[in-house]
Amino acid sequence: MLVRPRWRRLASNRATKVLALLLALWTTIEVLSIRRNLLREAAPELPAFGNQKIFIASIHWTDESVLRSHWAPAVAQLARDIGPENVYVSIYESGSLDASKEVLQILDTDLEISGIRRKIVLDETTHKDEVEKQHTQAGWVQMPVDRSYRQNWTDWFTLEKGTWVPRRIPYLARLRNLVMQPLYEMQQSGETFDKVLWLNDVVFNTDDVRTLLATRSGDYAAACALDFKRPPMFYDTFALRDAEGYEPLMETWPYFQSSQSREAVIHGRPIPVASCWNGMVMFDAAPFYDIRRPLAFRGISDGLAASHLEGSECCLIHADNPLSRTKGVWVNPQVRVGYNGTAYGAVNPVNAGSWPSSFAIAKGLWHNRIKRWLRAFKLRDRTVENKLQNWRDEDAGHHEPGSFCLIDEMQVMLWNGWGHA
Ligand SMILES: *[C@@H]1O[C@H](CO)[C@@H](O)[C@H](O)[C@H]1NC(C)=O
Repeated sequence: MLVRPRWRRLASNRATKVLALLLALWTTIEVLSIRRNLLREAAPELPAFGNQKIFIASIHWTDESVLRSHWAPAVAQLARDIGPENVYVSIYESGSLDASKEVLQILDTDLEISGIRRKIVLDETTHKDEVEKQHTQAGWVQMPVDRSYRQNWTDWFTLEKGTWVPRRIPYLARLRNLVMQPLYEMQQSGETFDKVLWLNDVVFNTDDVRTLLATRSGDYAAACALDFKRPPMFYDTFALRDAEGYEPLMETWPYFQSSQSREAVIHGRPIPVASCWNGMVMFDAAPFYDIRRPLAFRGISDGLAASHLEGSECCLIHADNPLSRTKGVWVNPQVRVGYNGTAYGAVNPVNAGSWPSSFAIAKGLWHNRIKRWLRAFKLRDRTVENKLQNWRDEDAGHHEPGSFCLIDEMQVMLWNGWGHA
């Protein structure tokens, strides 16, 4: 390899040369060994669905394009592959600003023809209806400051300080619990499911779901994919927490701060985490049937949210799930979904095991290492911790088991989507 001119002066010193050579050698050996690990774990033998009963769940808002091009056909194929006896599809859409309803109607017909049991709710309630409701129920906050949001390409609208607005997370939690209702109705008539599969509006196929299902031979409270919008950057950072409860250290491979989580990434094995969602997640269904305290989606309390904190319902569910502590929550790095076809193709190359590239591995290893070294010297940001402590001090009853889910944000619903306040 040629030594680049700007390095020449630096490398003039003999010791520096030796050091650089050793580092290069070390990195090469590391990358080669990781390559071998990843190749070994890629493209595992896929067991059949067998007699596992799977409840498929999803919520939708204004995602016509990916529904039409990939998602709806993939769900229909998946349901047929699992088999009509063993599958139920529960979908909730409301107030989309595009033709999502039309695509879901086509899916409904498709599933009907295949004899797949389902409930597809196409609700006319819009975000505008939601924000214009009386703020009598729980799940509302007051705008902490005046803030402007985009109305369309040219115009903006302003929400003044003090205006009551619905919080995004309790709204999403409510919809997710609605989608779970058929599970309980079927239980009444004596039918229970083994797994609950939550799907975002992602590109995936049946093999991805079979790989996810087979994570740790089925021994997990929940198993998630990795999701990509603009590869190599992964997408979902709101709900993902590593084995020690930290947010991902970086958006690219090997992602994590916790050594336990990082070790698993490097070996291509299921990654222990505190929480994940990542576009596709398979839950053991048992906790949803718990008689004393059935597992359900929720947001943090309005009082805590008023201090400008938020936590994803997709993270809190793992914090609330008693099975998380015994069977664990895992990311299966062999399952990579995308938010469009381009993203999916980029992280699922034809040669299984060739992703990520050797260069991406070398770069990722050093990027991650340097970030961790720098972090050791940096003062920890205690904003979230302090706010949580203040809220706890207000009342002995104030308790939040999902403290690792919290971030310093306020997310509110807008008539045309959602925004930060
Ligand atoms: C997929 O999404 C990326 C990022 O948003 C975009 O650059 C790309 O053009 C999209 N591809 C397709 C086929 O829409």
